[in-house]
Amino acid sequence: MEAILLVGGLGTRLRPLTDRVPKPLLPVAGTPFIAHQVARLAAAGVDHVVLATSYRAEAFAAGLGDGSALGVDLEYVSEAEPLGTGGAVRNAASRLRAAAEDAVLVANGDILDGHDVRAQLELHATHRADVTLYLTRVEDPRAYGCVPTDASGRVTAFMEKTPDPPTSQVNAGCYVFRRAALEEIPPGRVVSVERETFPGMLAAGRHVLGYVDDAYWLDLGTPAAYVRGSTDLVLGRVDSPARPGPAGEALVLPGAQVSPDAVVSGGTTVGPAAVVHAGARVEGSVLLDGAVVGEGSTVRRSVLGREAALGAGCDLDDAVLGDGARVGERNELCRGVRVWTDAVIPAGGVRFSGG
Ligand code: GDD
Ligand code: MG
Repeated sequence: MEAILLVGGLGTRLRPLTDRVPKPLLPVAGTPFIAHQVARLAAAGVDHVVLATSYRAEAFAAGLGDGSALGVDLEYVSEAEPLGTGGAVRNAASRLRAAAEDAVLVANGDILDGHDVRAQLELHATHRADVTLYLTRVEDPRAYGCVPTDASGRVTAFMEKTPDPPTSQVNAGCYVFRRAALEEIPPGRVVSVERETFPGMLAAGRHVLGYVDDAYWLDLGTPAAYVRGSTDLVLGRVDSPARPGPAGEALVLPGAQVSPDAVVSGGTTVGPAAVVHAGARVEGSVLLDGAVVGEGSTVRRSVLGREAALGAGCDLDDAVLGDGARVGERNELCRGVRVWTDAVIPAGGVRFSGG
């Protein structure tokens, strides 16, 4: 079984965390996010994965190698200019080994989910569909591809990010394509599967099927979602074969130092060489490699980038410190505030709260 993973997006909504690291390589529960996805696919029987990269292509091979540690044969293709989701799939198709009638999985590289991949593959095979889309239901479908289906499960429309969605059922970002159908995407130009390929297939009367699964599902595109995904993995609300160790209140990675007088909870990850000083409370957060939380500080639902340093007596709630950022003592940062990579905020009890 083969899969193409789309990992070429810019990760703009996750800035500054994606200034130096592409979104799929950001550590989630101590492991590069994409490794969780690859491990889940491997558990479902996938043995060959093609990563369709564009932005920071070189970082992927350096971070993931040949895939043997994850139980798959991992290959990389890159686009000189981003080709969009469909163009990326078409560009990666040359590496596939499947026959024309075989099934190929295609997945967005920023989704954490617990759906039953084998059941999706089975449905696709039973109905001999051209493509079978994994669909989930969300509270606010406007930010996604809205995908209504009829009583037999056939997709009746594909409406990408429509302001007035007719159903809460959305594209969950994992498709099973018949290889021959995937090869029909025009090569060498920008194509969006969401805006061109799927609507075009529907207009042509092709068999586009929906596989609805209400398992855990999260798009990790924003800092708040990134924190939630990481804490949910640590707490065991969603499982991954790539989580380093059993589920629990906190994941403290080798080389990290947590003072016995500090409290680390709510699914927090303390990255390698990160330090949490005495009296600090860190709840539901992500501390990346070498980050420091000063004495008596409180950190909730926040991210400290690599080597970011938070002084003593600070209060962070729903905040992001970029890599290398330094925040002096007695600062209060909340409500979505983001401190840029390597930025410095002086001590002084200043209150910064975002919009
Ligand atoms: N190689 C490559 N080249 N990959 C790309 C490109 C490209 O030009 N553009 C986007 N990608 C990758 C991104 O890295 C991401 O993994 C995936 O394609 C989807 O792109 P996003 O930018 O994250 O899209 P979205 O979240 O706004 O919407 C998509 O996902 C939703 C589910 O989370 C759509 O597929 C929606 O229909 C869907 O509901
Ligand atoms: Mg996304």
